Amino acid sequence: MKKGYFGEFGGSYVSPEMQKELNKIEKQYNELKNNKDFKKELNYLRKYYQGRPTPLYYCKKLTEKIGGAKIYLKREDLNHTGAHKINHAIGEALLAKYLNKTKIIAETGAGQHGLAIATVCAQMGLDCEIHMGKIDTQKQKVNVEKMKLLGAKIIQVDKGSCSLKEASESAMESYSKQLDTSIYCIGSVVGPHPFPTIVKDFQSVIGKEVKQQLKVLENKKPDYIVACVGGGSNAMGIFNEFLRDTQVNLIGVEALGRGELVGQNSATIRFGVTDIFDGYKTKVIKDKFGNVAEAYSIASGLDYPGVGPQHAYLSQIKRAKYVTVDDNECLTAFYTLSKLEGIIPALESAHAVAYGLKLAKSLDKEKIIVINLSGRGDKDVDYVLSLGGNYEN
Ligand SMILES: Cc1ncc(COP(=O)(O)O)c(C=O)c1O
Repeated sequence: MKKGYFGEFGGSYVSPEMQKELNKIEKQYNELKNNKDFKKELNYLRKYYQGRPTPLYYCKKLTEKIGGAKIYLKREDLNHTGAHKINHAIGEALLAKYLNKTKIIAETGAGQHGLAIATVCAQMGLDCEIHMGKIDTQKQKVNVEKMKLLGAKIIQVDKGSCSLKEASESAMESYSKQLDTSIYCIGSVVGPHPFPTIVKDFQSVIGKEVKQQLKVLENKKPDYIVACVGGGSNAMGIFNEFLRDTQVNLIGVEALGRGELVGQNSATIRFGVTDIFDGYKTKVIKDKFGNVAEAYSIASGLDYPGVGPQHAYLSQIKRAKYVTVDDNECLTAFYTLSKLEGIIPALESAHAVAYGLKLAKSLDKEKIIVINLSGRGDKDVDYVLSLGGNYEN
């Protein structure tokens, strides 16, 4: 496969000046990822600061209620800062430190990536600039306040849909003006090469742990792995270890939002067309005029009109299957997991839970499903309440 590509997807479509910087980052990253000191520091922080390994939890009550396959949750919600995003944030910040950069620039949707970056910047003494759409700053007020508390500068983006797409563009523009001193820490397996690969490498710890943990618990591999897909980092993180185990079914869950109309969902693999977007080639949702459409989901972390290039490829070669879950199904799963297992999921992760429960019901009892619980729902409680929380569900 061509370097930096997954089939026809991926690559790097940026200015020559930025390309020079990306080539430098790629070269230095390739050296560092095998550097003993770098690996030692990364593993130390993962264990003692972040809280890895995260548990693989068997949902006994949920499994009994659904009456089908055994349901396990990979508890990425138990990471420091409450989501999987810190897996790559720690790696990216360490990379910045080893490259003698003094500042990290990032975009954020639900605020989880921004929070993770702001946290590790505080821990490592780096300056931090986070770009966030105005709508997301309103939906995720607590995360905004937390990032400020950690010393980050928040740039509120008031353009277009005031969401993740505009935040990404704004962050990239700011980065292009500060190439010497800063590094762009992308929030998912998206963007120009080498970002999708770097983020996947740091996230792949999720799947590696699942493999080891399930061997101890069940002495087998999972039959199904289910993960939500925004840009696709938590999904790639849990899929990667199993890509060659073709008996393991990989399922990515996209947000159907309020329905199939353009602007009402962020189901990029289902509705997108192939194009160049945000500096890489992937599937993108477009409106009838051929412009990149506004994406929508109840979960801020999923409302992105593009998707990681490796997901576009895995879908094309049919190694992974991509399905959709709408806002209402997501909310029902949010209540169900909270009530039955005492775990309040992030709205993003509740998409994976919703599909996982539907799937479990259709399978025999000896099958095993692992759902990646990418984050905790504390950040979403106020928003769900504002929708008129239905606690009887
Ligand atoms: C908890 C959680 N899960 C999932 C996502 C979606 O991102 P990705 O598809 O890169 O995992 C986000 C994004 O903010 C998130 O906060």
